[in-house]
Amino acid sequence: MKLAAATMVATLALALGAGALAQSPSPSPKAPATPKKVTHAVAVLHPTQGNSVEGTVHFMAVSGGVNVKASLKGLAPGNHGFHVHEFGDCTAPDGTSAGGHFNPRGEPHGAPTDAHRHAGDLGNIEAKSDGTATLDWTDPQMKLDYPEGVIGRGVIVHANPDDLKTQPTGNAGGRVACGVVGVAKGE
Ligand code: CU
Ligand code: ZN
Repeated sequence: MKLAAATMVATLALALGAGALAQSPSPSPKAPATPKKVTHAVAVLHPTQGNSVEGTVHFMAVSGGVNVKASLKGLAPGNHGFHVHEFGDCTAPDGTSAGGHFNPRGEPHGAPTDAHRHAGDLGNIEAKSDGTATLDWTDPQMKLDYPEGVIGRGVIVHANPDDLKTQPTGNAGGRVACGVVGVAKGE
């Protein structure tokens, strides 16, 4: 008897629930919004262990590709290899968790002006005597969106210059700063 009553209550609750669902307003028939294409991404670079290199890198979609604007400080004067790496993972103290150069098309390492190069090959960034460096380069091959784009990937600054030919790294030495490319605010 007690069980029967409980069952009835449960059945009633289900019926009421179904009724409530049936009466809830149906979703409005307007078309789903077209996802907005990302046009601006940014990476904030933090020093790896034992280094003091930091800065920002902006990636803006432009008619000729993607404009890369970097502003760094804390560098030793001279050229430093500068690449987008495969993983947006800066968890390793030495930055090795970012993997190798981002290379979705299986190309050799090269200069940013080469037709055949890693997608992530941005060449070198040159620091002045005060340790600051800027770069303004419009990359004809770069994309922003997954899977061949840089969003979600890592940006690495190296201790040494990229010689633009040694495979597959450019022989640029250790990693002095690491950052993750994300969608920028103000899209
Ligand atoms: Cu690199
Ligand atoms: Zn490379």
